[in-house]
Amino acid sequence: MPEGLAWQPLQRTDLHLLSRWLAMPEVSRYFTEPADPAHVEQKYGSRIAEADRAEDPGQGVVVPCLAYLGAEPIGYGQYYLLAPDELAQLELPPSFRWGGFDLFIGETRHWGRGCGTSLVLGLLTRLRACGATAAAIDVWVGNGRAVRCYEKAGLSITRRLPGRETWQGEERDHWLMSLAPLSDEAAPGGAGWRGGG
Ligand SMILES: CC(C)(COP(=O)(O)OP(=O)(O)OC[C@H]1O[C@@H](n2cnc3c(N)ncnc32)[C@H](O)[C@@H]1OP(=O)(O)O)[C@@H](O)C(=O)NCCC(=O)NCCS
Repeated sequence: MPEGLAWQPLQRTDLHLLSRWLAMPEVSRYFTEPADPAHVEQKYGSRIAEADRAEDPGQGVVVPCLAYLGAEPIGYGQYYLLAPDELAQLELPPSFRWGGFDLFIGETRHWGRGCGTSLVLGLLTRLRACGATAAAIDVWVGNGRAVRCYEKAGLSITRRLPGRETWQGEERDHWLMSLAPLSDEAAPGGAGWRGGG
């Protein structure tokens, strides 16, 4: 896996990058989120403020982060603990404390080199530090690259979630992927964490 990958807390000054990446067709086909700068400012600005306020960043808040390869910002990620209603909806066993995450690499020339796998491992380490004992993510069944990336990070397909999302009028099924239990040890090759707790 590439050296020098790290997560860092998202800053307000990074929001223009998010807008730019979210507007890219290669990203928006898979990470379906409005790219409009006002929306990004409102939604992700609030997340930054909430994460700054929270004593335990995993509790009830979505923690937004920026991915770096050396000094270059290359993508976005977020992690959170799943609420009881989400566990029920996804039929995840409440015997675990479930964490979730999402990510994309906006600098697409870095796709397919192992960066995604290392970044996912880094997010799993953050989730474990917040008390998660298991992790889950749902991903469009047409996103083979992400599915493979998550498998390389240790997750496996649990079941199909029919019609989980509608994108440009197209109803999409997702895979629910999970890893339970999360190992106690940080996986080798996982992206590190720079600054802020
Ligand atoms: C998903 C994403 C984070 C993965 O990052 P990445 O750096 O490309 O991932 P990796 O290189 O670690 O792993 C990708 C794997 O998928 C494989 N792959 C590529 N295209 C594939 C496809 N169509 N079907 C199956 N596997 C595929 C690669 O060969 C690689 O596996 P390998 O190492 O065994 O050869 C990145 O591609 C991305 O940001 N995509 C757009 C946004 C997105 O999909 N986000 C996730 C939403 S749930």
